[in-house]
Amino acid sequence: MTPAAPSPAPLPGAPFVSYRHGQLMVEDVALADLARAHGTPLFVYSSAAIGHALAAYQRGLAGRDALICYAVKANSSLAILKLLADAGCGFDIVSGGELERALAVGAAPEKIIFSGIGKTRQEMRRALEAGVGCFNVESLAELDVLSEVAQGCGRVAPVSIRVNPNVDARTHPYISTGLKGNKFGIAHEQALAAYRRAASLPGLRVAGIDCHIGSQITEPAPYLEAMDRVLDLVAAIEAAGIPIHHIDFGGGLGIDYGGTDDPSLPPPADALWSALLARLDARGFGNRKVVIEPGRSLVGNAGVCVTEVLYIKPGEQKNFCIVDAAMNDLPRPALYQAFHRIEPLAAPAPGAPAVIYDVVGPVCESGDWLGRDRALAVAPGEHLAVLSAGAYCMAMASNYNTRPRAAEVLVSGAEARLVRRREGVQDLFRDELA
Ligand code: LLP
Repeated sequence: MTPAAPSPAPLPGAPFVSYRHGQLMVEDVALADLARAHGTPLFVYSSAAIGHALAAYQRGLAGRDALICYAVKANSSLAILKLLADAGCGFDIVSGGELERALAVGAAPEKIIFSGIGKTRQEMRRALEAGVGCFNVESLAELDVLSEVAQGCGRVAPVSIRVNPNVDARTHPYISTGLKGNKFGIAHEQALAAYRRAASLPGLRVAGIDCHIGSQITEPAPYLEAMDRVLDLVAAIEAAGIPIHHIDFGGGLGIDYGGTDDPSLPPPADALWSALLARLDARGFGNRKVVIEPGRSLVGNAGVCVTEVLYIKPGEQKNFCIVDAAMNDLPRPALYQAFHRIEPLAAPAPGAPAVIYDVVGPVCESGDWLGRDRALAVAPGEHLAVLSAGAYCMAMASNYNTRPRAAEVLVSGAEARLVRRREGVQDLFRDELA
């Protein structure tokens, strides 16, 4: 046993996630009260934290012709989408399903950007009928199909081509997308030819250019490099007589997950964007409309996942703290060996003896862990919070092991609203035939 070391401050999500009188709070609501009222596992989001993260982007882009299109994939819960739509955001979508979600919360269709490498004809048709603002096209074959589909429904599809700038985002290989070996985008060298083709197709209208180099990026350098490469292309494309109205720089800005072994902290969104806009100005493109597609950096640190400790299982090599949340609720550790801080809802008394645990879920896989080698002073029946759980957690949750998905609560000040009911077991096999 080791003494429970005080957690290194500050908590990711602070000041919206904080201890008050020994109780872990989201804004002015004690998580223990929410766990009692709604059960666990439970996702809880701070609307003020989302507003705060969005404000940094808005400050950074103030005075510019800019559109912030929230990447729906990061957290597609309707309450989160509604909050961002009401705050003026557009949306970056990658499926017909995400389109319906955005429309369901009243998103302005012209502020929706349709990304993704595998759009079906049906998805294209629906998006054209809805009047989305732009299709980010990722292959020559897709250009042809989109033109055909648009003609078929008597529309002209606004398009950007997603170019692959061949820039190393220096992030986890699974979430790095701007290198040559990735499946995304059209190679820099082929971009001009692709634009010529797009401009010649009757169902298309060239609107802009797009790039996205990866996710959880913690340095400005890859963005600046990608921007330079994209601007070189804009110059070449315009010299060929094809005007580029907007430049979409994608998403990708990382968040601080609070890992002590990872010293690289992402820059704040406003600082990043002042640097990027300075480069845009210096290159003579300062008056161009800018579109961005942030996901994680808007919602990641606004959410926590509350879980109950079921069992403590001491072992010869490892001690296990078995909790009721699992890889189906929170797949990032299993998928990317991702680090999330795990904190007790009730702060331990100073000097309380702690044990080093692997925090694991009930799913039948060794990969089902939420945190490794964590010093915790906890007992069954007590609760923990997995922090930085606002992005790519609930949105990637599955029903593996026939586990219903968690409930979600949105907090605003002292008010907490259930925004997704816990899934019922019957919901899981309602559409099946025995
Ligand atoms: N735009 C495009 C075209 C994207 O592919 C993505 C993310 C974004 C925007 C938003 O990126 P963000 O700002 O959230 O970094 N599941 C992984 C992350 C996958 C990101 C996929 N694309 C994770 O949990 O780390």
